[in-house]
Amino acid sequence: MGHVVLQGKRILLIVGGGIAAYKALELIRRLRERGAAVRCVLTKGGGEFVTALSLGALSEDKVYGELFSLTDEAEMGHIRLSREADLVVVAPATADLLARMASGIADDLATTLLLATDKPVLIAPAMNVRMWEHAATRRNLARLEADGVTRIGPEVGPMACGEFGPGRMAEPADILAAIEARLTVAGSLTGMRALVTSGPTFEPIDPVRFIGNRSSGKQGHAIAAACARRGASVTLVSGPTHEPDPQGVTTIRVQTAQEMLAACEAALPADVAVCAAAVSDWRVSAPANQKLKKAKGQADPVLALVRNPDILATLAQRKKDRPRLVIGFAAETENLIAHASAKLESKGCDWIIANDVSPSTGTFGGEQNEVHLVRAGQGRSRPEIESWPRDSKAAIAERIAERIGDALGRQTAATSS
Ligand code: C5P
Repeated sequence: MGHVVLQGKRILLIVGGGIAAYKALELIRRLRERGAAVRCVLTKGGGEFVTALSLGALSEDKVYGELFSLTDEAEMGHIRLSREADLVVVAPATADLLARMASGIADDLATTLLLATDKPVLIAPAMNVRMWEHAATRRNLARLEADGVTRIGPEVGPMACGEFGPGRMAEPADILAAIEARLTVAGSLTGMRALVTSGPTFEPIDPVRFIGNRSSGKQGHAIAAACARRGASVTLVSGPTHEPDPQGVTTIRVQTAQEMLAACEAALPADVAVCAAAVSDWRVSAPANQKLKKAKGQADPVLALVRNPDILATLAQRKKDRPRLVIGFAAETENLIAHASAKLESKGCDWIIANDVSPSTGTFGGEQNEVHLVRAGQGRSRPEIESWPRDSKAAIAERIAERIGDALGRQTAATSS
């Protein structure tokens, strides 16, 4: 099945400076045999170990080296180069390259591509055992893992420098398997349908006034975009926000909770529903047809409110066309996990993404978020909780999309075997 996975896939291979660079040649050969297109970037250090000529001959493509080479820039900008791939592979990934990646340094073509890419990244580290075990390398790896980078190896064994221990780059066959795994299970949503709600709802009081909230729609929009990038066909049902419609997503704009529910139901069936909208819990029971006036001597209006439909619960509890995975958010200011776990139960959804929206966190309307993924346990077991470090809403969206891809991929594999 591996052959099918790699057929037509585009791999951007960054070859760093290490003795293990020779294994990159074998990796290219195997990738090509399986029908993948490989485009190589050779770092300055890498060029000390293998030549652009060999990489080019094996990949049957141009090899990119210097960031400021005018001919390269004229043919293809670095942004395009970094995004035209399905996967970016760094092999060998040296301690120095990992450090620069972890810090977001972009001082050569390889690190610039790594910073500019919106594609998954797989690293195959290779270095001396002391360097591998150094606290700085540990820190950098933790940072990269938190950023969503996947790693293969290193292996334990004798090293070219004469020492013994972890640091040898994984063998080409293992890197190949990791590439296949990254392209299949890890978050691919190809062929899946996703429904995402985002933003606030506006509930009219009269033709000009409404009840709303401060939701910016940033997190929901980012999730819709991340799912689309992973190949899903996405419908985004959004309340009024200033966020632009994400690329490659069908966006439906609504105002009220009732409109949002109707648009969601019309978008079914879907494999996954992510309810990120801050839906107004109440609406005015009888909005005025004309603008309310403040007339002298007249009593001030009293707004009678009625409960809005709960979109998340409605989708989660559908008998027909219930999405396989229904995900809600829990914006809380205290007892985060306890409330999130209770919400799983009361709404009937599969996952809750809990975030602290105390004003001091700046989450509402801000660029960053800190979340806990709370998954319903099997049967009566307790929910599983995964806490993620504070990160940009875009990075959190990527991880959510990846987890969705993993879960749906596993379900599909389980039903077809
Ligand atoms: O009940 P609470 O508003 O705290 O639940 C939050 C979750 O429920 C969010 O995922 C939100 O999108 C969803 N929700 C909904 N419809 C409502 C209220 C909340 O879909 N009327």
